[in-house]
Amino acid sequence: MDVYKAILSRRSIRRFQQKPIGIELLKKFVNSARLAPSAANLQPLEFFIVNKKNLCDEIFKTIGWAGYIKPKWTPSENERPVAYIIIMNKDTTKDWNIRDSSLASENIVLTAESEGIGSCILLNIDKKMIKEILNISNYLFIDSIIALGYKAEECVIEEYEDSVKYWRDENEVLHVPKRKLEHIIHVNEC
Ligand SMILES: Cc1cc2nc3c(=O)[nH]c(=O)nc-3n(C[C@H](O)[C@H](O)[C@H](O)COP(=O)(O)O)c2cc1C
Repeated sequence: MDVYKAILSRRSIRRFQQKPIGIELLKKFVNSARLAPSAANLQPLEFFIVNKKNLCDEIFKTIGWAGYIKPKWTPSENERPVAYIIIMNKDTTKDWNIRDSSLASENIVLTAESEGIGSCILLNIDKKMIKEILNISNYLFIDSIIALGYKAEECVIEEYEDSVKYWRDENEVLHVPKRKLEHIIHVNEC
């Protein structure tokens, strides 16, 4: 799959098949994050793969899902992520740090997409709880986590009209509004 195709087809997936992802594939995702651009090439990130069922169950409890879906929704027991990658930073003193983790995240989700695996970047998480569950050393700060699994839901792009809020239709398809290209692009003049 070429990169642009993966960019077009990737959507945040929040319902997953209960089929494991091989550890080599998970390591491949981390490898793609390792090779992401890094400000001043400082490479402050480390990555924690979680794929054991009991740990996944604990991490699941720390996550807030799909804030725009009302009433409050979480994936049911048989559609939870089967793995997580926790993105950790050993240096939060630089104000550009967040960019490294964002670029690493994008590499992970696009590599996952190219392997037919769904993903969701998550920031609505209880970082303190995650640190405790995984016994993460004090020198590492949790930036975000990425939920992973083979896809069990359909998501489609909609043209943005008057709201950025995604919604589910009667068939449980998730519709994600995206702003139109002509509304965000400036060529040579503003
Ligand atoms: C930095 C960041 C944090 C996010 N945090 C959450 C989250 O905590 N929970 C969630 O369900 N989705 C989360 N998302 C997914 C966004 O809701 C999703 O990217 C957005 O609705 C656009 O949909 P798309 O990824 O399918 O294009 C996050 C995405 C980003 C980039």
